[in-house]
Amino acid sequence: MGSTKIIIAGGSGFLGKSLAKWYSSNVEDCEIVILSRSPRAIDSTRTVVWDGLNPGDWAKELEGASALINLAGRSVNCRYNKANRRAIMDSRIDSTRILGQAINQCKNPPKVWLNSSTATIYKHTYGQAHDEKRGTIEATPEAKDSFSIEVAKAWEDEFEKAQTPDTRKLILRTAVVFHTDHGSAYAIMRRLTRFGLGGKMGDGRQYVSWIHIDDFCRAIDWLLSSAEAEGIVNISSPNPITNAELMANFRKVCGRPIGLPAYRWMLEIGAIFLRTETELIIKSRRVVPGRLLSDGFTFNFPEIQQALADLENG
Ligand SMILES: NC(=O)c1ccc[n+]([C@@H]2O[C@H](COP(=O)([O-])OP(=O)(O)OC[C@H]3O[C@@H](n4cnc5c(N)ncnc54)[C@H](OP(=O)(O)O)[C@@H]3O)[C@@H](O)[C@H]2O)c1
Repeated sequence: MGSTKIIIAGGSGFLGKSLAKWYSSNVEDCEIVILSRSPRAIDSTRTVVWDGLNPGDWAKELEGASALINLAGRSVNCRYNKANRRAIMDSRIDSTRILGQAINQCKNPPKVWLNSSTATIYKHTYGQAHDEKRGTIEATPEAKDSFSIEVAKAWEDEFEKAQTPDTRKLILRTAVVFHTDHGSAYAIMRRLTRFGLGGKMGDGRQYVSWIHIDDFCRAIDWLLSSAEAEGIVNISSPNPITNAELMANFRKVCGRPIGLPAYRWMLEIGAIFLRTETELIIKSRRVVPGRLLSDGFTFNFPEIQQALADLENG
């Protein structure tokens, strides 16, 4: 066993695999254990089966662990029909609840518990950026975000309710994480751009909050190591940009001077065929990492140009 042991619930997904890889490259003597609903091999990690709902042998892994990171949850990239809404909500609430109960039963609980949330919790805005202190939480019909905000609030409430007095707790309000894995938001936008469809989406004025995967992993490690850090933390780059600017940058790195725009009505039709929701594109998310910046975290990729150049050529 390594001297640092990190448990990642839902760690078989995009972010969990990236974190596991980052730790194996950057931190010596670190054991990563993934809690997954199916036994599977993930490079340099050990997988322990759980169901995200009930107590079980998996809970023994938490005894004496350095940290628990909960990333479990049904993907939000789907149509918000009744069954999917239920799965999106329940997978987040149930996994958070059972992890809280498991920590509570530990003799030697994990030192810190990071639970995922989302930057989508903040109000749709073209105005001042939301940080942790001044950010407002409210749904906007134009952004079609009432369900997402309801989920995020319930998820955070469940986490707040957990009685874990000897474990430091942090809520991660994470923006869209840019990485090149197949199926990620980044990979989809790059593909559209290469096909000549890299124009603005909707009116292009909506803000996109984002973070490079390397900065995401570094920010998580920073929070694990900062003995005083507790509460809500925005995990995003300091420089959200508009969708029009983002797509212009994609066109530049993909060498496509022209990109057809996608008007709102096209997005609505496209979303039905692609089995997704337009909220993921049309909501204006202007979120900044107030706490990370004030606590002295430095971003390797604060600007979109640096981030895209690294992801394309790095
Ligand atoms: N990626 C982003 O840009 C981003 C941004 C903001 C917030 N987030 C949040 O961060 C978390 C991780 O994101 P991700 O991109 O890594 O997601 P992901 O690739 O979809 O992985 C999430 C993992 O959750 C587990 N899961 C799915 N349905 C579940 C259920 N019903 N019960 C228990 N576990 C279930 C799955 O693991 P098993 O199948 O192995 O059990 C899956 O690998 C999610 O909660 C997401 O909402 C992500």
